[in-house]
Amino acid sequence: MNIAIILAGGSGTRINSSLPKQYIEVNNKPIFMYSVDTFNNNSLIDRIILVAKENYFPIIRKYIKEDSKKISLVNGGNTRQESVRNALEFLKCNKVNDEDIILIHDSARPLISDKIINDNISACLSYDACVTYVNVNDTIFMSDDIKVSSSLDRSKIKASQTPQTFKFNLIYEAHNKNHDAIVTDDVQMVLMQNKEIHLVEGDIYNFKVTNDLDLALLQSILKNNQ
Ligand code: CTP
Ligand code: MG
Repeated sequence: MNIAIILAGGSGTRINSSLPKQYIEVNNKPIFMYSVDTFNNNSLIDRIILVAKENYFPIIRKYIKEDSKKISLVNGGNTRQESVRNALEFLKCNKVNDEDIILIHDSARPLISDKIINDNISACLSYDACVTYVNVNDTIFMSDDIKVSSSLDRSKIKASQTPQTFKFNLIYEAHNKNHDAIVTDDVQMVLMQNKEIHLVEGDIYNFKVTNDLDLALLQSILKNNQ
């Protein structure tokens, strides 16, 4: 089975809105529903676990049709990592197989394409772990917040996107063994297990809505697509 975990449990503190960013409506549809619809309509996806804070379940249920048996709602945690772990524990108790493919996606990336989803699934079939990436445009340097400590070779730097996709047993074990690690994505968890992670090319439209400029960009892209 190919299972998507879609994360919508954050509070969006870097955006100027009282409502968490994933619930902001753009073109009469909340941001989280864009990725839910894309995964739900993709014929390779068998199940979706949507992770959100319980107090937002009533809002979510307004958009998710009762007949969409494919989708389960799971309560989110205080960090992204905890939200992922809650979804993995839910799956563990609900008929998952070790070899099932788990695609972990940020609902804050609404413009995920079928190509990226399909490429993740085929890479994971061969390599057990993969990450969607894009090349970076800026030159990146390390800093101690006062001065530059080193610069990095841009040709070797990639920016990670989601989905990040793993066989269930691999990602479940990585989360269990590294409970206390402070990380911002699942690739970092799996690297702690010394596993290789294959690259899948993403695209710039699969950006993460993080700040007000990203929200304006999303509004503009969707308006132009209408
Ligand atoms: N996320 C989650 N549970 C959390 C924190 C984050 O499911 N406790 C999800 C977010 O909803 C988002 C994704 O992880 O879709 C990526 O996180 P990020 O962009 O950092 O979102 P927020 O944490 O909501 O935003 P911020 O860091 O600006 O507060
Ligand atoms: Mg965050």
